[in-house]
Amino acid sequence: MKLLITGMAGFIGHAVAKRLTGQSHDIVGIDNLNDYYDVALKHARLAELSECSDVRFIELDLSDREGMASLFADEGFDRVIHLAAQAGVRYSLEKPHVYADANLVGHLNVLEGCRQQRVEHLVYASSSSVYGMNGKVPFATGDAVDHPISLYAATKKANELMSHTYSHLYGVPTTGLRFFTVYGPWGRPDMAPYKFTKALLEGDPIAVFNHGDMSRDFTYIDDIVEGIVRILEVMPQLGDATDSPDSSTAPYALYNIGNGSPVALMDFIRAIEKATGCEAKCDFQPMQPGDVPRTWADTEALFEATGYRPRVGVEEGVQRFVDWYREFYEV
Ligand SMILES: NC(=O)c1ccc[n+]([C@@H]2O[C@H](COP(=O)([O-])OP(=O)(O)OC[C@H]3O[C@@H](n4cnc5c(N)ncnc54)[C@H](O)[C@@H]3O)[C@@H](O)[C@H]2O)c1
Repeated sequence: MKLLITGMAGFIGHAVAKRLTGQSHDIVGIDNLNDYYDVALKHARLAELSECSDVRFIELDLSDREGMASLFADEGFDRVIHLAAQAGVRYSLEKPHVYADANLVGHLNVLEGCRQQRVEHLVYASSSSVYGMNGKVPFATGDAVDHPISLYAATKKANELMSHTYSHLYGVPTTGLRFFTVYGPWGRPDMAPYKFTKALLEGDPIAVFNHGDMSRDFTYIDDIVEGIVRILEVMPQLGDATDSPDSSTAPYALYNIGNGSPVALMDFIRAIEKATGCEAKCDFQPMQPGDVPRTWADTEALFEATGYRPRVGVEEGVQRFVDWYREFYEV
């Protein structure tokens, strides 16, 4: 298959490319290598992939309309895994326009490319943040999600709506994946697992929001990658709409992809303490604007579609992350 992976220098894109290399695919990855977090980490991820003869990298911005149209026309992709986006809830309060460019204009350019070049399946990243303050747990794709509490979440919900339109009007098969707090080796410096590990190893305090009363459905990177690779093979079909908000007659699908078992933030910190051998100095703070107190994924639909359940628990996953961190940064 000829595959496009957007955001290939990113945490999840790099891991997906690594998983798919060596399987007779022709893989093209794009990324704009922006400096939202340490660009050296993005270059290091790409350096690892540069050893794979079936993976090519092109530096390109999603919002470059002509550049994106040429990419799709020149390459003729069979399937697309669209992971590039401006991520992060808190940053969307500071730099809203970056989110409009990457996540709205960028997503439209990907949809247009898929439509014009008749791509057979688009799998794209949504987020658990679309659930906002949803009180019902676990979070299911049939829940109403009309009240996002950050612009980031609003752009991810918009991606689902835009994709549905393209599935309905033009028959582009699209599958959205709502990721739940992904962590593991090569992880993002702006996320808590990385920040906490760094601070503990350097003896610095960690900011613990909502006074520690938070929980997250932390999902290990290999489990996320396996879900993405399997769902790429599951083509959304024309269907019968039911009463559920996530059903549609169009070739459109939407899944949660998470661990399915929330972990209290303080337990996660304890796992990092154990893996690093360092004690956390917690600086308890109030809830941050735009943030949600808990997430918990109902993953039954993904299991039914792919036969896969996440395997890596938090203690093991955190240990693997800390081992990678120490080796990568030589600390
Ligand atoms: N990691 C998580 O826990 C998580 C949770 C929910 C959703 N997601 C979503 O999953 C996807 C991948 O996330 P990630 O954790 O790998 O993030 P990441 O920031 O590591 O990767 C995203 C990549 O996209 C690139 N990018 C950003 N804007 C771009 C643009 N305009 N043009 C081209 N490239 C651009 C960035 O340079 C980056 O390398 C994103 O869509 C994100 O919103 C991630």
